[in-house]
Amino acid sequence: MTGTKITFETIRGMKNRGEKIAALTGYDFPMTRLLDMAGIPLILVGDSLGMVVLGYPDTTHVTMAEMEHHVRASARAKPRALLVADLPYRSYEAVDCAVQNARKLLVAGAEAVKAEGGRAIVEQVRAIVQAGIPFMGHLGMLPQKVLEEGGYHVKGKLEQEHADLLADAEALVGAGAFAIVLELVTPPVARELTRKLPVPTIGIGSGAECDGQILVTPDLLGMLPWFSLKHVKPKLNAAEQMRAVIAQWKTSVEGQASAPA
Ligand code: KIV
Repeated sequence: MTGTKITFETIRGMKNRGEKIAALTGYDFPMTRLLDMAGIPLILVGDSLGMVVLGYPDTTHVTMAEMEHHVRASARAKPRALLVADLPYRSYEAVDCAVQNARKLLVAGAEAVKAEGGRAIVEQVRAIVQAGIPFMGHLGMLPQKVLEEGGYHVKGKLEQEHADLLADAEALVGAGAFAIVLELVTPPVARELTRKLPVPTIGIGSGAECDGQILVTPDLLGMLPWFSLKHVKPKLNAAEQMRAVIAQWKTSVEGQASAPA
């Protein structure tokens, strides 16, 4: 893509300019290139790749080596978009590991990192930002906690969850996060956070009143018919179209006359 390179400052400034942020996930060279050609300004190499690319049951199985491999593939598309990468499960439990692993993702080609949590990881976030690495937060339902929490639950319904979300978001902003993903946060709480925070909120299943939206691209394109999600209605039935073309091609090959012996 041509045009000025999008940086974390560009993304942070979109809130003040009143520009909505349309972000998507990309895990490899072709998808990252297509998203960039469509003008998506922020592409996330999400650890959702564990489920949508690698076939794991959840994101807790994703390793640093797998993240680095996919970040390298996406970065080869040289997107104009800001390329953000997830720090995977247990890769940021201690401050020194968090910085070391964030650096590895940058070496692989990411331009910013994302990790899940608020006050619990604020020292890690501060150290990452102080090391010169742009950081994007992730609050609400935290997929890396799916086993501890026994499923994917909407956050913000209870007064304590509401208070925790506000305190966590303020802690992330204080530590230098340039944007915060809000996953499965009740729309009124997501709206309140969006109004209060100086950095953009990027929602997923959190209502329309965030500064931007992010989706897992295969969910948007209908590539995974075996997953059904409440917060996203596929805009394409890519899985069915691909299956039909493959079956047609198979039939055409099987119907070809054999060469005479
Ligand atoms: O891993 C991922 O794809 C994400 C998005 C759902 C925000 O974190």
